[in-house]
Amino acid sequence: MDESNQLDELLSCRQREGRKEVEPCTIIIFGASGDLTSRKLIPALYHLHCEGRLPEAMRVIGFARREKTDESWRAELREALGKFSRSKTVDETKWAEFAERVVYCRGDLTDAKTYKALRARLDEAESEQVRENVLIYLAISPSQFSEVVKQCHEAGLLNRDPAGASWQRIVVEKPFGRDLASAQALNESLMRHAHEKQIFRIDHYLGKETVQNILMFRFSNSIFEQIWDRQSIDNIQITVSEQHSVGARGGYYEEAGAMRDMVQNHLLQALALVAMEPPVSLEAEAIRDEKVKLLQSIRDFDPEKISEQVVRGQYFAGEIDGEARPGYRQEPKVDPKSNVETFVALKLFIDNWRWSGVPFYLRTGKNLPMSASEVRVQFRPTPNILYAAECDSGVEANSLTLRLQPNEGISLRFNGKVPGASMEARPVRMHFSYDSEFGAYTPEAYERLLLEAIAGDATLFIRRDEVETAWGIVDAIRESWSDVALTNREIYAAGTWGPVAADDLMAADGHKWRDPQPLK
Ligand code: BG6
Repeated sequence: MDESNQLDELLSCRQREGRKEVEPCTIIIFGASGDLTSRKLIPALYHLHCEGRLPEAMRVIGFARREKTDESWRAELREALGKFSRSKTVDETKWAEFAERVVYCRGDLTDAKTYKALRARLDEAESEQVRENVLIYLAISPSQFSEVVKQCHEAGLLNRDPAGASWQRIVVEKPFGRDLASAQALNESLMRHAHEKQIFRIDHYLGKETVQNILMFRFSNSIFEQIWDRQSIDNIQITVSEQHSVGARGGYYEEAGAMRDMVQNHLLQALALVAMEPPVSLEAEAIRDEKVKLLQSIRDFDPEKISEQVVRGQYFAGEIDGEARPGYRQEPKVDPKSNVETFVALKLFIDNWRWSGVPFYLRTGKNLPMSASEVRVQFRPTPNILYAAECDSGVEANSLTLRLQPNEGISLRFNGKVPGASMEARPVRMHFSYDSEFGAYTPEAYERLLLEAIAGDATLFIRRDEVETAWGIVDAIRESWSDVALTNREIYAAGTWGPVAADDLMAADGHKWRDPQPLK
């Protein structure tokens, strides 16, 4: 075997082949006129088509209120694809093939007649599988989820126990509820018409390659997993910072705030993957069981002491890269006296054997100096003897950073001796970059998520108990904020790393935030 074949063989030692069994089906997108459909869903399906990953027979039916024909909807989607596709050019032949599978159906979501029209469009397909295997994608306002699911059920588009080998599934976009009570109510209403295994709750962070790599990194490398615990780790910081402001989403954001918009889902999901125990297998339920266990092990926040553990913030006017940014209260559709948080920093503890006593710091915010998501694992320092005691500038504790986006990669910082006669240690970095190792190809999260939903693999989706446990955590914190106005210590200028109160939170433990750096 020559060298390149050997390498090929090594590289092909994968857990799974990556190609999933996908059966002929129809995807019905409720909310066909919305942004999500044109920016994310259709470009993702188009790319899957180009790569030959979609089932051979498959149709997409877009459903919305506006009057459109199949042709006019296709033309709109083609235009949007030009703007939002991850590949610079659109392959017109591939697009034409794909567009042929895409049709439009107009109707009112609350009117039973329109679901009959939808059934009629489904029945146009020759193949029984395309008529009966249905993926219902809810890209609509959460207040409409229950109604649409009920109507789909009544029109025979969704059966709790589908006949024979056919299947029907629902993909639910976030936000899934606005607190524990509403999430429970939504779960109950969906589960009247669908089994839990038919419900695919989206958190698009789970579709990101680097987020999936957290488990692969932890459980395929013995050198890291052996030190992944309280004996070796001092603290873990998870930062999801965003340079952009709330912008045109003021109306939504006033209802959500950073806690509901980011912490309840993306940050807690990242935390669960970083800290969970090894699952018994790579099956969806085994992985989701461990994530739930982890979330359930988060120590309850003491209502009297929440301010010592959680800091919220809101941006005022500032500047980013020379561009003036208005304050949150000046954004469109935002109450000029709003107390909604655009930043959250919190400290939590996980009361289990592995993590007892290790603080986890999570933070997220809008209008921060740069957009970057990363997990920083800060190891314990060496004892203060030998080099730590002798070196003029001391020695830094080791750290490992998983950069989730952008410039995806993993860096290990350790100390090296600065050449020369002096006793000086300097942190140096070993870096793995996705781009240099695997090329610039990074599929969009929605490509992976759609494919998994079509294939019926729920690993990358949120289970009922997971979403409810996460809301329980968030609710406990939000309750303590209700009616309490933001103070000056919680306000930060756009373009800074958040309010001073967030630095104090760390300083109280003798720690400090490690801000993401612009990596190459
Ligand atoms: C969404 C939030 O879920 O995630 C947005 O609603 C946020 O407010 C976005 O900007 C961040 O996603 P990404 O993939 O750009 O990091």
